[in-house]
Amino acid sequence: MKDELLKLLNDADGYLSGQALSEALGVSRTAIWKAINKLKEEGFQIASVRNKGYFIEKTSTELAESSVRSYLSSGCRFTSVKVLETVDSTNTEAKRLYQSGLRSEAVLLSKEQTLGKGRRGRSWLSPKDEGIFMSLLLMPDIDPVQASMLTLVAGLAVSEAIESLLDLKPMIKWPNDLVIDGKKVCGILTEMSAEMDFVNHVIVGIGINVNQVEFHPDIVDMATSLKKICGQEVNRPQLIGRIIEKFEVYYNQFLTMGDLAFMTQSYNDRCINVDQELKVISRSGELKGKGVGIEKDGTLQIRLEDGTITSINAGEVSVRGLYGYI
Ligand code: BTN
Repeated sequence: MKDELLKLLNDADGYLSGQALSEALGVSRTAIWKAINKLKEEGFQIASVRNKGYFIEKTSTELAESSVRSYLSSGCRFTSVKVLETVDSTNTEAKRLYQSGLRSEAVLLSKEQTLGKGRRGRSWLSPKDEGIFMSLLLMPDIDPVQASMLTLVAGLAVSEAIESLLDLKPMIKWPNDLVIDGKKVCGILTEMSAEMDFVNHVIVGIGINVNQVEFHPDIVDMATSLKKICGQEVNRPQLIGRIIEKFEVYYNQFLTMGDLAFMTQSYNDRCINVDQELKVISRSGELKGKGVGIEKDGTLQIRLEDGTITSINAGEVSVRGLYGYI
Protein backbone atom coordinates (compact mmCIF):
# COMPACT_ATOMS: atom_id res chain seq x y z
CA MET A 1 0.00 0.00 0.00
CA LYS A 2 2.88 2.36 0.81
CA ASP A 3 4.27 1.95 -2.71
CA GLU A 4 0.86 2.57 -4.29
CA LEU A 5 0.45 5.68 -2.16
CA LEU A 6 3.89 6.92 -3.20
CA LYS A 7 3.00 6.37 -6.82
CA LEU A 8 -0.27 8.33 -6.51
CA LEU A 9 1.53 11.22 -4.81
CA ASN A 10 4.31 11.20 -7.38
CA ASP A 11 1.87 11.19 -10.29
CA ALA A 12 -0.28 14.00 -8.88
CA ASP A 13 0.10 17.58 -10.06
CA GLY A 14 -0.91 19.15 -6.75
CA TYR A 15 -2.36 18.26 -3.37
CA LEU A 16 -4.34 15.03 -2.90
CA SER A 17 -6.86 14.89 -0.08
CA GLY A 18 -6.83 12.13 2.52
CA GLN A 19 -10.34 11.26 1.35
CA ALA A 20 -9.31 10.92 -2.30
CA LEU A 21 -6.33 8.76 -1.33
CA SER A 22 -8.39 6.53 0.94
CA GLU A 23 -10.96 6.02 -1.83
CA ALA A 24 -8.31 5.33 -4.46
CA LEU A 25 -6.57 2.76 -2.28
CA GLY A 26 -9.63 1.32 -0.56
CA VAL A 27 -8.30 1.90 2.98
CA SER A 28 -9.25 4.21 5.85
CA ARG A 29 -7.97 7.77 6.20
CA THR A 30 -6.15 6.69 9.34
CA ALA A 31 -4.31 4.04 7.33
CA ILE A 32 -3.33 6.75 4.83
CA TRP A 33 -2.12 8.99 7.64
CA LYS A 34 -0.01 6.17 9.11
CA ALA A 35 1.48 5.30 5.70
CA ILE A 36 2.30 8.97 5.09
CA ASN A 37 4.14 9.08 8.43
CA LYS A 38 6.11 5.97 7.48
CA LEU A 39 7.10 7.56 4.18
CA LYS A 40 8.20 10.70 6.03
CA GLU A 41 10.31 8.55 8.36
CA GLU A 42 11.92 7.04 5.28
CA GLY A 43 12.95 10.53 4.20
CA PHE A 44 10.26 11.51 1.70
CA GLN A 45 9.38 15.20 1.91
CA ILE A 46 5.60 15.23 2.20
CA ALA A 47 3.65 18.36 3.10
CA SER A 48 0.34 17.87 4.96
CA VAL A 49 -1.97 20.89 4.85
CA ARG A 50 -5.39 21.04 6.50
CA ASN A 51 -8.27 21.12 4.01
CA LYS A 52 -5.90 20.46 1.15
CA GLY A 53 -4.29 17.11 1.83
CA TYR A 54 -0.87 15.80 0.96
CA PHE A 55 1.78 16.91 -1.48
CA ILE A 56 5.11 15.24 -2.15
CA GLU A 57 8.22 17.15 -3.10
CA LYS A 58 8.85 15.36 -6.35
CA THR A 59 11.21 12.42 -6.08
CA SER A 60 14.68 13.34 -7.17
CA THR A 61 15.17 13.24 -10.91
CA GLU A 62 18.63 11.80 -10.23
CA LEU A 63 18.92 8.26 -11.56
CA ALA A 64 18.84 6.08 -8.45
CA GLU A 65 17.19 2.83 -7.44
CA SER A 66 14.89 4.57 -4.96
CA SER A 67 13.69 7.15 -7.46
CA VAL A 68 12.93 4.48 -10.09
CA ARG A 69 11.19 2.28 -7.52
CA SER A 70 8.99 5.13 -6.36
CA TYR A 71 7.29 4.96 -9.76
CA LEU A 72 6.68 1.20 -9.66
CA SER A 73 3.71 -0.48 -8.06
CA SER A 74 4.31 -3.05 -5.34
CA GLY A 75 3.09 -5.95 -7.50
CA CYS A 76 5.67 -5.27 -10.22
CA ARG A 77 7.25 -8.53 -11.44
CA PHE A 78 10.66 -6.85 -11.60
CA THR A 79 11.61 -6.92 -7.95
CA SER A 80 15.26 -6.28 -8.71
CA VAL A 81 16.14 -2.81 -10.05
CA LYS A 82 19.81 -1.95 -10.06
CA VAL A 83 21.51 1.31 -11.05
CA LEU A 84 25.24 1.25 -11.82
CA GLU A 85 27.56 4.26 -11.91
CA THR A 86 29.30 2.97 -15.01
CA VAL A 87 29.55 -0.27 -16.95
CA ASP A 88 30.78 -1.47 -20.32
CA SER A 89 27.27 -2.41 -21.46
CA THR A 90 24.14 -3.13 -19.43
CA ASN A 91 23.38 -6.04 -21.80
CA THR A 92 26.80 -7.55 -21.14
CA GLU A 93 26.42 -7.00 -17.38
CA ALA A 94 22.97 -8.66 -17.43
CA LYS A 95 24.56 -11.64 -19.16
CA ARG A 96 27.30 -11.76 -16.50
CA LEU A 97 24.66 -11.64 -13.74
CA TYR A 98 22.89 -14.63 -15.29
CA GLN A 99 26.18 -16.49 -15.65
CA SER A 100 27.01 -15.86 -12.01
CA GLY A 101 23.74 -17.50 -10.96
CA LEU A 102 21.00 -14.84 -10.94
CA ARG A 103 17.75 -16.59 -11.75
CA SER A 104 15.15 -13.88 -11.27
CA GLU A 105 14.04 -11.30 -13.80
CA ALA A 106 15.73 -7.97 -13.28
CA VAL A 107 16.09 -4.41 -14.53
CA LEU A 108 19.60 -3.13 -14.90
CA LEU A 109 20.42 0.52 -15.52
CA SER A 110 23.64 2.44 -15.79
CA LYS A 111 24.41 6.15 -15.66
CA GLU A 112 26.84 5.63 -18.53
CA GLN A 113 28.18 2.86 -20.76
CA THR A 114 31.75 2.72 -21.95
CA LEU A 115 31.11 0.06 -24.62
CA GLY A 116 27.41 0.42 -25.38
CA LYS A 117 26.35 -2.02 -28.07
CA GLY A 118 24.03 -1.36 -30.99
CA ARG A 119 22.63 -3.80 -33.52
CA ARG A 120 24.79 -5.37 -36.23
CA GLY A 121 28.01 -4.80 -34.30
CA ARG A 122 27.58 -1.05 -34.12
CA SER A 123 28.28 0.93 -30.95
CA TRP A 124 25.77 2.94 -28.92
CA LEU A 125 27.08 6.26 -27.60
CA SER A 126 26.11 6.46 -23.93
CA PRO A 127 27.20 9.77 -22.35
CA LYS A 128 27.05 10.01 -18.55
CA ASP A 129 23.79 11.10 -16.93
CA GLU A 130 22.09 12.04 -20.17
CA GLY A 131 20.34 9.01 -21.60
CA ILE A 132 18.58 5.88 -20.47
CA PHE A 133 20.69 2.75 -20.79
CA MET A 134 18.68 -0.15 -19.53
CA SER A 135 18.52 -3.92 -19.87
CA LEU A 136 15.67 -6.21 -18.92
CA LEU A 137 16.89 -9.66 -17.99
CA LEU A 138 14.04 -12.07 -18.76
CA MET A 139 13.62 -15.80 -18.41
CA PRO A 140 10.49 -16.46 -20.43
CA ASP A 141 9.15 -19.96 -20.95
CA ILE A 142 8.90 -19.60 -24.73
CA ASP A 143 10.26 -21.19 -27.88
CA PRO A 144 13.53 -19.52 -29.00
CA VAL A 145 11.89 -18.44 -32.28
CA GLN A 146 9.47 -16.26 -30.31
CA ALA A 147 12.20 -14.25 -28.59
CA SER A 148 12.51 -11.59 -31.30
CA MET A 149 8.88 -10.63 -30.60
CA LEU A 150 10.06 -9.15 -27.30
CA THR A 151 11.81 -6.39 -29.26
CA LEU A 152 8.43 -5.33 -30.62
CA VAL A 153 6.84 -5.55 -27.17
CA ALA A 154 9.55 -3.24 -25.83
CA GLY A 155 9.24 -0.84 -28.79
CA LEU A 156 5.53 -0.38 -28.22
CA ALA A 157 5.98 -0.04 -24.45
CA VAL A 158 8.65 2.67 -24.81
CA SER A 159 6.69 4.56 -27.46
CA GLU A 160 3.54 4.58 -25.34
CA ALA A 161 5.46 5.48 -22.18
CA ILE A 162 7.00 8.51 -23.88
CA GLU A 163 3.63 9.56 -25.28
CA SER A 164 1.94 9.27 -21.90
CA LEU A 165 4.43 11.60 -20.20
CA LEU A 166 5.39 14.04 -22.95
CA ASP A 167 3.27 15.47 -25.69
CA LEU A 168 5.01 13.37 -28.35
CA LYS A 169 4.11 10.30 -30.36
CA PRO A 170 7.26 8.39 -31.29
CA MET A 171 6.82 6.26 -34.39
CA ILE A 172 8.30 2.77 -34.59
CA LYS A 173 10.64 1.84 -37.41
CA TRP A 174 10.18 -1.92 -37.47
CA PRO A 175 11.44 -3.76 -35.62
CA ASN A 176 13.36 -1.74 -33.09
CA ASP A 177 13.90 1.98 -33.61
CA LEU A 178 11.79 4.79 -32.27
CA VAL A 179 11.73 7.83 -34.45
CA ILE A 180 10.48 11.37 -33.94
CA ASP A 181 10.53 14.00 -36.68
CA GLY A 182 12.52 11.62 -38.88
CA LYS A 183 15.30 11.11 -36.32
CA LYS A 184 16.08 8.22 -34.00
CA VAL A 185 15.46 8.61 -30.26
CA CYS A 186 15.59 5.00 -29.14
CA GLY A 187 17.15 1.71 -30.21
CA ILE A 188 16.56 -1.77 -28.86
CA LEU A 189 19.03 -4.64 -28.87
CA THR A 190 17.59 -8.02 -27.92
CA GLU A 191 20.02 -10.82 -27.18
CA MET A 192 19.32 -14.40 -26.22
CA SER A 193 20.99 -17.49 -24.83
CA ALA A 194 19.11 -20.65 -25.77
CA GLU A 195 19.28 -24.35 -26.50
CA MET A 196 17.52 -25.71 -29.61
CA ASP A 197 14.14 -25.68 -27.87
CA PHE A 198 14.76 -23.91 -24.57
CA VAL A 199 15.42 -20.27 -23.71
CA ASN A 200 17.93 -19.69 -20.93
CA HIS A 201 17.49 -15.95 -20.94
CA VAL A 202 16.56 -13.02 -23.13
CA ILE A 203 18.08 -9.59 -22.58
CA VAL A 204 16.16 -6.65 -23.97
CA GLY A 205 18.52 -3.67 -24.07
CA ILE A 206 16.91 -0.26 -24.47
CA GLY A 207 18.86 2.90 -25.24
CA ILE A 208 17.01 6.23 -25.25
CA ASN A 209 18.41 9.63 -26.08
CA VAL A 210 16.79 11.63 -23.31
CA ASN A 211 18.61 14.77 -22.17
CA GLN A 212 21.46 14.89 -24.68
CA VAL A 213 21.67 18.15 -26.57
CA GLU A 214 24.79 17.47 -28.56
CA PHE A 215 25.48 14.50 -30.78
CA HIS A 216 28.61 13.16 -32.38
CA PRO A 217 29.00 14.53 -35.93
CA ASP A 218 28.67 10.97 -37.28
CA ILE A 219 25.10 10.67 -36.01
CA VAL A 220 23.89 14.26 -35.68
CA ASP A 221 21.77 14.04 -38.85
CA MET A 222 20.09 10.81 -37.76
CA ALA A 223 19.68 11.13 -34.00
CA THR A 224 17.73 13.38 -31.70
CA SER A 225 16.74 13.43 -28.03
CA LEU A 226 13.52 13.91 -26.11
CA LYS A 227 14.91 17.11 -24.59
CA LYS A 228 15.76 18.53 -28.01
CA ILE A 229 12.23 17.88 -29.18
CA CYS A 230 10.20 18.95 -26.18
CA GLY A 231 12.56 21.71 -25.07
CA GLN A 232 12.80 20.64 -21.45
CA GLU A 233 14.74 18.28 -19.21
CA VAL A 234 12.96 14.91 -18.94
CA ASN A 235 12.61 13.07 -15.62
CA ARG A 236 14.41 9.79 -16.37
CA PRO A 237 13.28 7.79 -13.28
CA GLN A 238 9.67 8.62 -14.07
CA LEU A 239 10.06 7.61 -17.71
CA ILE A 240 11.84 4.39 -16.73
CA GLY A 241 9.03 3.58 -14.28
CA ARG A 242 6.42 4.13 -16.97
CA ILE A 243 8.34 1.97 -19.46
CA ILE A 244 8.64 -0.91 -16.97
CA GLU A 245 4.95 -0.63 -16.14
CA LYS A 246 3.88 -0.74 -19.82
CA PHE A 247 6.38 -3.45 -20.70
CA GLU A 248 5.16 -5.63 -17.86
CA VAL A 249 1.53 -5.45 -19.03
CA TYR A 250 2.42 -6.41 -22.62
CA TYR A 251 5.00 -9.00 -21.56
CA ASN A 252 2.39 -10.76 -19.41
CA GLN A 253 -0.06 -10.74 -22.31
CA PHE A 254 2.59 -12.08 -24.66
CA LEU A 255 3.47 -14.90 -22.25
CA THR A 256 -0.19 -15.84 -21.91
CA MET A 257 -1.03 -15.71 -25.62
CA GLY A 258 2.29 -16.74 -27.15
CA ASP A 259 2.05 -14.16 -29.93
CA LEU A 260 1.49 -10.45 -30.57
CA ALA A 261 -2.15 -10.58 -31.73
CA PHE A 262 -3.13 -8.40 -28.76
CA MET A 263 -0.95 -5.51 -29.93
CA THR A 264 -0.67 -5.68 -33.74
CA GLN A 265 -3.17 -2.88 -34.16
CA SER A 266 -1.48 -0.53 -31.68
CA TYR A 267 1.91 -1.36 -33.16
CA ASN A 268 0.80 -0.82 -36.77
CA ASP A 269 -0.79 2.46 -35.78
CA ARG A 270 2.69 3.66 -34.77
CA CYS A 271 4.70 1.80 -37.38
CA ILE A 272 6.34 4.20 -39.79
CA ASN A 273 6.80 1.43 -42.35
CA VAL A 274 3.09 0.96 -42.95
CA ASP A 275 2.32 2.28 -46.45
CA GLN A 276 5.96 3.26 -46.83
CA GLU A 277 8.03 2.47 -49.95
CA LEU A 278 10.71 0.11 -48.65
CA LYS A 279 13.90 -1.57 -49.67
CA VAL A 280 14.55 -4.88 -47.94
CA ILE A 281 18.18 -5.88 -47.80
CA SER A 282 18.93 -9.54 -47.11
CA ARG A 283 21.85 -11.89 -47.78
CA SER A 284 20.17 -13.06 -50.95
CA GLY A 285 19.69 -9.56 -52.37
CA GLU A 286 17.35 -6.60 -52.35
CA LEU A 287 13.59 -6.36 -52.72
CA LYS A 288 11.39 -3.30 -53.13
CA GLY A 289 7.81 -2.96 -51.97
CA LYS A 290 5.37 -1.20 -49.71
CA GLY A 291 4.98 -1.95 -45.98
CA VAL A 292 1.62 -3.49 -45.00
CA GLY A 293 2.06 -4.02 -41.25
CA ILE A 294 3.18 -6.56 -38.70
CA GLU A 295 1.60 -9.97 -38.23
CA LYS A 296 0.97 -11.60 -34.88
CA ASP A 297 4.34 -13.39 -35.13
CA GLY A 298 6.14 -10.05 -35.39
CA THR A 299 7.10 -10.37 -39.06
CA LEU A 300 6.57 -7.38 -41.34
CA GLN A 301 4.38 -7.95 -44.37
CA ILE A 302 5.42 -6.23 -47.57
CA ARG A 303 3.55 -5.90 -50.84
CA LEU A 304 6.16 -6.38 -53.53
CA GLU A 305 6.20 -4.51 -56.81
CA ASP A 306 4.51 -7.47 -58.57
CA GLY A 307 1.61 -7.34 -56.08
CA THR A 308 2.55 -10.43 -54.08
CA ILE A 309 2.81 -10.21 -50.32
CA THR A 310 5.84 -11.48 -48.46
CA SER A 311 6.63 -11.62 -44.74
CA ILE A 312 10.06 -10.67 -43.51
CA ASN A 313 11.74 -11.63 -40.29
CA ALA A 314 13.67 -9.12 -38.21
CA GLY A 315 16.76 -11.25 -37.77
CA GLU A 316 17.29 -11.77 -41.48
CA VAL A 317 16.89 -8.43 -43.11
CA SER A 318 17.32 -4.73 -42.78
CA VAL A 319 14.57 -2.40 -43.93
CA ARG A 320 15.18 1.07 -45.31
CA GLY A 321 12.78 3.66 -46.55
CA LEU A 322 13.71 4.65 -50.05
CA TYR A 323 14.29 8.21 -48.91
CA GLY A 324 16.74 9.00 -46.09
CA TYR A 325 17.28 7.23 -42.74
CA ILE A 326 13.70 6.17 -42.16
C1 BTN B 1 20.38 -0.13 -31.93
O1 BTN B 1 19.54 0.67 -32.30
O2 BTN B 1 21.34 -0.42 -32.63
C2 BTN B 1 20.22 -0.78 -30.56
C3 BTN B 1 20.80 0.07 -29.48
C4 BTN B 1 20.62 -0.52 -28.10
C5 BTN B 1 21.34 0.26 -27.02
C6 BTN B 1 21.05 -0.26 -25.64
S1 BTN B 1 21.62 0.82 -24.36
C7 BTN B 1 21.28 -0.38 -23.16
C8 BTN B 1 21.68 -1.71 -23.75
N1 BTN B 1 23.08 -1.96 -23.52
C9 BTN B 1 23.78 -1.97 -24.65
O3 BTN B 1 25.01 -2.16 -24.73
N2 BTN B 1 22.97 -1.78 -25.68
C10 BTN B 1 21.60 -1.61 -25.28
